[in-house]
Amino acid sequence: PALYCVFGNPIAHSKSPLIHAAFAQQTGEVIAYERRLAPLDGFALAARSFAAEGGRGANVTVPFKLDACALATELTPRAKAAGAVNTLRFEADAIVGDNTDGAGLVADIVRNAGVALAGKRILLLGAGGAARGVVLPLLEQGPQEIVIANRTVATAITLVTQFADAVKHDGQLQACGFEQAQGSFDVIINATSASLAGDLPPVPASVFGPQTLALDMMYGAQPTVFMDFAASHGAQVRDGLGMLVEQAAEAFYVWRGVRPQTQQLLAELRAQLD
Ligand code: ATR
Repeated sequence: PALYCVFGNPIAHSKSPLIHAAFAQQTGEVIAYERRLAPLDGFALAARSFAAEGGRGANVTVPFKLDACALATELTPRAKAAGAVNTLRFEADAIVGDNTDGAGLVADIVRNAGVALAGKRILLLGAGGAARGVVLPLLEQGPQEIVIANRTVATAITLVTQFADAVKHDGQLQACGFEQAQGSFDVIINATSASLAGDLPPVPASVFGPQTLALDMMYGAQPTVFMDFAASHGAQVRDGLGMLVEQAAEAFYVWRGVRPQTQQLLAELRAQLD
């Protein structure tokens, strides 16, 4: 079988091996997919050793996405834009770094939730690595506006500046603080790590309307505080499980050239969370 793995630290609870095994079974691709714990200061060595063992590609999760970006000898445009790599391909003379997180998010919103993004108002909460990773794929959907709101406004402004060349019209990409988000949005994406601490980005309740899809990149057996808050103001809510499955499907496509179906697996993973 063609050998793949996921690198992380910790890695024991990663769902990626299960997801890729399901994709392989469904598509008839013959692959082996392992979990690899890399030492915090030893990602490059671990990745090179894996390639030397015959590894054809790897997913990369916390905290190694920047290390993977540095290790790659070539970056896809979306990995360059994200400034981070979650998918590596080991070739004879190159290590190609890609990033499928943004494509995964877009697929989950557009295909799974059935919400088109063209002409829409999007509020992106957070301006760290997770937010940066999804800006270009979101812009490519042709929204009317993406407002990046962050606790540290300067970081949001820097992000807007970095994507100036990808913007299609004036004001398509804007920055502000949480409290300054104006009007209601069609889609609100929580890309902060606030949910991990049980915190809520203090956005005004007026950002939510009955048509709003509010998505938290985090997932778990229980809704996050952000999802509860959004739901209490009438929004349709979604966690990050769909994005997880879709970024994996996109990585599988990058490696194997075959696009797996995701609906049934997503339902199974959802059932297992409870
Ligand atoms: P990640 O890779 O998860 O994006 P990161 O790059 O450290 O991690 O970014 C974390 C993001 O969550 C940032 O936007 C951060 O806001 P600041 O730029 O102001 O630090 C945001 N964040 C973290 N904890 C938060 C909290 N308790 N409330 C609101 N925002 C928070």
